[in-house]
Amino acid sequence: MKSELERIHREAVAGLEAASQEAEVEALRVRLLGRKGELTTIVRSLRDVDPSDRPAMGAYLNEVKTDVEQRIEAAFLALRVSARERQIASERVDVTIPGRRQVLGHLHPITQTIEEMIDIFVALGFEVATGPDVEDDYHNFTALNFPPDHPARDMQDTFFVDQDHLLRTHTSPVQIRVMENRQPPLRVIVPGATYRIDNDLTHAPMFHQIEGFMVDKRVTFGDLKGTLTLALQRLFGDDTRVRFRASFFPFTEPSAEVDIGCVICAGQSSTCRICRGTGWLEILGAGLIDPNVFEAVGYDSEALSGFAFGVGIERVAMLKYQINDIRLFAGNDIRFLRQF
Ligand code: PHE
Repeated sequence: MKSELERIHREAVAGLEAASQEAEVEALRVRLLGRKGELTTIVRSLRDVDPSDRPAMGAYLNEVKTDVEQRIEAAFLALRVSARERQIASERVDVTIPGRRQVLGHLHPITQTIEEMIDIFVALGFEVATGPDVEDDYHNFTALNFPPDHPARDMQDTFFVDQDHLLRTHTSPVQIRVMENRQPPLRVIVPGATYRIDNDLTHAPMFHQIEGFMVDKRVTFGDLKGTLTLALQRLFGDDTRVRFRASFFPFTEPSAEVDIGCVICAGQSSTCRICRGTGWLEILGAGLIDPNVFEAVGYDSEALSGFAFGVGIERVAMLKYQINDIRLFAGNDIRFLRQF
């Protein structure tokens, strides 16, 4: 029996050393210590041992059993530890690698300029209205007192959609739409896209305007001057000079073109390429609303008066940020846009 126990022990030790999986160790445990395991069943053989040798043989059996139990326990533990170590190694994270920065986008410079101008006029009590980009001829031209043969109605200048519809050439038709639906007093600004058949460094086929108008009793040219001077100084700086020049628009009378002192040379350079040495930059069109416009929307042109103005957003942004090509705004070049 002794040699049998030695054989079992030897094989157990060798088997456990060779085991590389928990399942193999478990199989060995069952084979040795399970209900029908070799070390479980060998106990019965003690009966056949000489009674004088029995205590020593029993002690030896216990020794082998205990040793095998401990080795199995140790083998399980060692395999679990190494499995855990492998897992840790494979899941290792280098916490010293610099993180990846998320690039945050921002508003387009034209949107930024529109929002800045809206803020200025809202602070002066104006509200925001919008209208459709595809207009009918009536709202874009006729109601705004354009004569039937006015050159702006020409195919050369206007994108026509069909006989009667076009891409609005200015935001002024929204004056008509608002006045058709509401009664004075009105103080409204209208930001939006506008379209003209035009394409060079300072004219794009699509651009943006902000229209503004006020209608009430006794609105004067002085109100127009005060409002625009204040707004332009908020926009370009408190000491910006503002000048009104007589001009013509079908829908205002009298009409003016408004200039600001050159933002580049402040009138100090006779060779300035921005103002061409004049010291002034044309920035918007304005005037007192023509009585014919009031008649078109059913207002009493005797009792009411108003002013209106329209300013090109790209033009404002180009002067503010000193950009020399209007096409950059719609070019979607991230290197350009990132600078704002
Ligand atoms: N609608 C004119 C334009 O686009 C600008 C303007 C608006 C002029 C309102 C006077 C009053 O040129």
